[in-house]
Amino acid sequence: MSFVKRTRASAIAFMITAISATGAFAADKVTVETKKAIPASEVPADATIVGINRMKYEQPELTIKAGETVYWVNKEVMPHNVAFKRGIAAEKAVQGVMLKKDEAWAATFNEAGTFDYHCTPHPAMRAKVIVE
Ligand code: CO
Repeated sequence: MSFVKRTRASAIAFMITAISATGAFAADKVTVETKKAIPASEVPADATIVGINRMKYEQPELTIKAGETVYWVNKEVMPHNVAFKRGIAAEKAVQGVMLKKDEAWAATFNEAGTFDYHCTPHPAMRAKVIVE
């Protein structure tokens, strides 16, 4: 085995070790539950909800416990989303899908901390989830 091949093999072995040590997504503080928008009617009745209306998140500060899931529901015709800058929810930026009226998006917060988010097309729309 050449030096190059051995180096590559050990690099791959290291990457596999790193992934298995942390779990593929364990580094993410926030887990996206809904890759696509879901109808607001499918949001569980006992869910923790942040409404979006009149260009605002209706709960500018929401406090939850670690492990809880938050649903955002857009109540107006103007489309909005929920986006976390790089390093807040995960190593990379996390950008939720655009929500039309009466659509929802959900994320679970795995760790304590303060999670500032914004709406991608409307950067002045800001709020935070505080996880205890
Ligand atoms: Co918006």
